[in-house]
Amino acid sequence: MVRIMEKKDYDISIIRPEMRLADFKLRGQGMPSDRLKRIKEGLQTLHTLETMAVNIYKFQITKKESELNLQLISAMGNEMTHLQDFQIKLFEYGFKPSMIRFLYWIVGFKFGFFSRLLGTKAILKTGIWVEKKAVRHYGVLLKEIDWDEDTRKIIEKDQADEYGHLKRWKDFLSAKDIN
Ligand SMILES: [Fe+2]
Ligand SMILES: [Fe+2]
Repeated sequence: MVRIMEKKDYDISIIRPEMRLADFKLRGQGMPSDRLKRIKEGLQTLHTLETMAVNIYKFQITKKESELNLQLISAMGNEMTHLQDFQIKLFEYGFKPSMIRFLYWIVGFKFGFFSRLLGTKAILKTGIWVEKKAVRHYGVLLKEIDWDEDTRKIIEKDQADEYGHLKRWKDFLSAKDIN
């Protein structure tokens, strides 16, 4: 089992790290084809999961003026950053997103929409369940794939963000004023 670890060296208060023109690169030249194949599968998996994550939070947000809604909006924004991270990396490598990712768009919508109908506790429990899986999944992909250094750092930062989401929803759930 992969341990859940908080990466202390990544600042998770940064929701959208700056990306400059010089940070974009064409990648994969000279890499053996089996390494490229693993990277492609890994990036498509991450891109697909982030498609789902954006939708979960997007459909959990209500119109109510609350701290939870504010945090859900920031989590949604953070997942949008992750989605961009992996979409950019896919195209830098000359790959395309997975054809079946729309299925995960629907799964994310369902998780988000139905947990919102069930109320605050269901919203938080859904977030905790999904983020726990995300942190573990990121850990496995980090361990099993020989990433280039830039991509590895992005995956580590994004994993730290997921850990931050998990902790945030756990703290909310244990707070006394949850109805
Ligand atoms: Fe994410
Ligand atoms: Fe997350």
